[in-house]
Amino acid sequence: MKGLILSGGKGTRLRPITHTSAKQLIPVANKPVLFYGIEALATAGIEDVGIIIAPETGEEIRAAAGDGSRFGVHITYIVQDVPAGLAHAVLTAEPFLGDDPFVMYLGDNLLQGGIVDLVERFKTSQCDALILLTPVPDPENYGVAELDGDRVVRLVEKPRSPVSDLALVGVYMFTASVHDAARAITPSARGELEITDAIQNLVDSGLRVEPHIVSGWWKDTGQLADMLEANRLILDVMEARCDGVLEDSQLDGRVVVAAGARLERSTVRGPAIIGAGARLIDAYVGPYTAIGDRCLIESAEVENSILLTGCEVRRLDGRVESSLLGRNVRIVRDGRQPRAYRFMLGDSSEVRVP
Ligand code: G1P
Repeated sequence: MKGLILSGGKGTRLRPITHTSAKQLIPVANKPVLFYGIEALATAGIEDVGIIIAPETGEEIRAAAGDGSRFGVHITYIVQDVPAGLAHAVLTAEPFLGDDPFVMYLGDNLLQGGIVDLVERFKTSQCDALILLTPVPDPENYGVAELDGDRVVRLVEKPRSPVSDLALVGVYMFTASVHDAARAITPSARGELEITDAIQNLVDSGLRVEPHIVSGWWKDTGQLADMLEANRLILDVMEARCDGVLEDSQLDGRVVVAAGARLERSTVRGPAIIGAGARLIDAYVGPYTAIGDRCLIESAEVENSILLTGCEVRRLDGRVESSLLGRNVRIVRDGRQPRAYRFMLGDSSEVRVP
């Protein structure tokens, strides 16, 4: 069995971060989202992994994940020239996949509990596709399934009036029959070859498509709120550990401090993670915060946020909350006159002041 991780896409809902970086590399609890998917495949015993990349962000993904040896897998990179849909990605990967059954994993998805049991079930059930479903409050934003007992009746991509609240989770298992199904469909209203339509084609052709309702949490990290929630969910299950230096500082609850981090007169209230080489001086880091490597937090408070590598937050009166800061972002009070906000922000940045 092979693995296929989709790591293309533009990530428009996470701009400006995605102007300069692939959305799949945004860290959740200081680890790129994509790595959780690779690890899930590796744990399920899948060693041959193809990663679909876009021309714009592919190099960055290659540089981050490498040949896969550190995950115990072998990675083949497959360039999808145009973002023409998930079924188009499958067709692009056909030379890599051949006749093998495979797990398709959307690179911005996080699934609690991994896929070990599901891969086992797929192998023994002899079905043509195993799809994962979960109830969501906003099914119109996903592929939606209609079931009749244990039978998949109908699948619709982002329906205006959903027939159920069961969303397709971005993890699918297929036999090679999906290639013909992907060839048989036409582009959707958004101009993409939808995997949802390809699965419907399998159903229509009388092939066996089995549903599995996931019991744990699942997150598609396509938007800021989802990203922060994924961060909370992962931080919640991390084991406390301190490899850094504490000087007159305090860690409350589930806190991870990486090697080379240094805390001076600071308090971190978990769940939280402080990256390698980060410095906290007279700072407070509150629950559900991931401070990236080499960040500096000085005389400031940060909570429920994700800070990427090399950020500086200094001398702020108000607490930074529910924020996502890209690499090397600086937010400082400079005390200069006239007292005014001074910004240098990239395209599509967003600043909210009290
Ligand atoms: C894609 C699929 C959709 C699925 C979702 C899961 O949506 O088309 O069926 O429910 O992933 O994350 P997209 O992220 O392309 O909007």
